[in-house]
Amino acid sequence: MPNRVVYWNGNFIPEIEARVSIFDSALMFGDMVFEMTRSFGRKPFRLREHLERLYASLDYVEIDCGLTIDKMESVTHEAIEKNLPELEGFDFQIMHDVTRGSGELYDTLVKEGTDPIVSINMLPLVRHTGGLADKYVSGGHLVVTPQQAVPARYIDPKAKNRSRLHYQLANLHASRMESGAMAVLTDERGFIAEGTGSNVFIVQDGQILTPKPHDILRGVSRQACMDFANELGIPVVEADIDPYDCRTADEIWLTSTPFAMIPISRFDFRTVGEGKPGPVYTRVLSAWSEEVGVDIAKQAQEYAGLMQTWKP
Ligand SMILES: Cc1ncc(COP(=O)(O)O)c(C=O)c1O
Repeated sequence: MPNRVVYWNGNFIPEIEARVSIFDSALMFGDMVFEMTRSFGRKPFRLREHLERLYASLDYVEIDCGLTIDKMESVTHEAIEKNLPELEGFDFQIMHDVTRGSGELYDTLVKEGTDPIVSINMLPLVRHTGGLADKYVSGGHLVVTPQQAVPARYIDPKAKNRSRLHYQLANLHASRMESGAMAVLTDERGFIAEGTGSNVFIVQDGQILTPKPHDILRGVSRQACMDFANELGIPVVEADIDPYDCRTADEIWLTSTPFAMIPISRFDFRTVGEGKPGPVYTRVLSAWSEEVGVDIAKQAQEYAGLMQTWKP
């Protein structure tokens, strides 16, 4: 049994004891926001950016978590420090979850009371990235699903929330199309929006394009990818991209916190470019790996090797 601890409303408790009530608004309504940061070389990557997005999400859903952003940052570092011995040898996720808490209706039934619950947990990334290791080498298959993105005027996807049924349905559609396929959602006009946990980039004639930041979560890795590309002198343009552009693109990749960048070698059952990770993808991922001092693709291979024996 792992001895990791979880920050839980001002205390540190064993991970196994961190449980929300069946009356919590998160379970009742998906009424909560969250963040997932990761470490590289056991140091959090762009933690402040993740926390700024968390506080923007909290503001959007009108939850007062009771902590300033500075306090949230310092308890996060404290939680990391406490868990470092248990996370020995691994990079890890740093998950911030904030639920609205349970409604007044259930006030006598919930031992922790009706206030919002703030929790912060850490978990090695072995399964997250190990399971994707082969995709860094041969590329993933990205398919457009019938399930579309939720327009920002309904529930704004810029707020990272757990009302994620539409992403799950898109994943189901994709896996029915082909086992292991990854889903991409279009917006209501038919333009590419985002993956179910990732942002999309394509390359056309040496230029990198990514969807405009409207009906998407504005990924921290999306921004990091744009920063690394800019440092390499490769222009990045935010544009309306339709599935036709993806079909004719030289390269496609996805960005997301756990895996940084995954290349796409097939789009809707057709080969992308040369059918393998392209030169622009490779350059940007190398710049990223160099900056954080971790060979990101190689680490995924190492974690893939551990997956059979390692238990969370
Ligand atoms: C819907 C969605 N889009 C994009 C992303 C990528 O965001 P980030 O790079 O901050 O991990 C995520 C991450 O979970 C996501 O859930």
